[in-house]
Amino acid sequence: MAANSSLGSKRGLPELNGLVNLYSSDTGEPVAVLNATALTGFRTGAAGAVASRLLANPDATTLLVVGTGSQAPYQIMAQLCVLPKVTQVLLANPRDAKKAQAAAAQMPMTLEKLFSQTIRATNSATNSVVAGLIDHRLSEVEFTGVTDLPAAVQRSRVIVTATPSTKPLIQADWVQPGTHLNAIGADMEGKQELDAKLFQGAQAYTDDVPQASEVGEIQNPIKAGVIKPEQVVEIGNSLLDPTLGRHDANAITIFDSTGITLQDLAAANLAFVRAKEQGVGTQVDL
Ligand SMILES: NC(=O)c1ccc[n+]([C@@H]2O[C@H](COP(=O)([O-])OP(=O)(O)OC[C@H]3O[C@@H](n4cnc5c(N)ncnc54)[C@H](O)[C@@H]3O)[C@@H](O)[C@H]2O)c1
Repeated sequence: MAANSSLGSKRGLPELNGLVNLYSSDTGEPVAVLNATALTGFRTGAAGAVASRLLANPDATTLLVVGTGSQAPYQIMAQLCVLPKVTQVLLANPRDAKKAQAAAAQMPMTLEKLFSQTIRATNSATNSVVAGLIDHRLSEVEFTGVTDLPAAVQRSRVIVTATPSTKPLIQADWVQPGTHLNAIGADMEGKQELDAKLFQGAQAYTDDVPQASEVGEIQNPIKAGVIKPEQVVEIGNSLLDPTLGRHDANAITIFDSTGITLQDLAAANLAFVRAKEQGVGTQVDL
């Protein structure tokens, strides 16, 4: 369940609040209540990381993230984990180009606070090593706010879009051969971040073809008659069958993430298991 309040953000609280209730599949008992906002960030970041690990050019050095909202830090951290050669992160905010510079200046601190500081606070020796690795990875990266979106797209071999846009932000002729894109934002009918023509000749992937055909980025090229749902590969299938991956180094690959319940359940369960292992969280008797 989620609640949205602009009063909350004026008081320095998150604008969107949500909770996940986890129940035992054996007994049906409630076992945990989790912060859904963080969980969504982690599971969506992880989905983007799986796609990039599978499809992006591993030599990519420049990552462009379009959209500087709640999803952006999770997407960035996840991409930095799977793309070890990325040392340049470009940030664009198509709504307000100048805000991208402020977001870029803030991003290293945001990432440190969200990831390494939180992990370190658990006081476990293993986690302290992980926090150190995150800090080291962040120290290798330069964050830059960009205002010239076409030039930034041309420079980047990995692109993440995470906005609620209803109009294409990235035009097909800006995208260079060999680029991988994770289209995260479209999760409702009418949303669109990419030019439908970009799908012409590209290799398209998604989490769930029937759902994405209705609400994901692929709804647009399907409506425009550029592709058919049968041409889109479910990312789970390409994990099982390597022949379904990138065909050649120059192909343009697109992963359309719409978010599926299975990801929420898997992420909530993993968070619960890890919290129990590490003795974090608060135990209450109901
Ligand atoms: N695929 C998934 O599983 C998944 C998961 C979570 C969120 N989402 C979607 O990702 C998108 C971003 O989520 P968020 O929580 O980061 O949102 P947010 O509101 O925190 O940030 C949105 C960003 O996009 C920019 N923006 C707003 N309207 C825009 C427009 N019309 N055109 C271009 N840019 C615009 C904002 O300035 C901001 O930088 C949303 O559409 C959300 O529904 C998808």
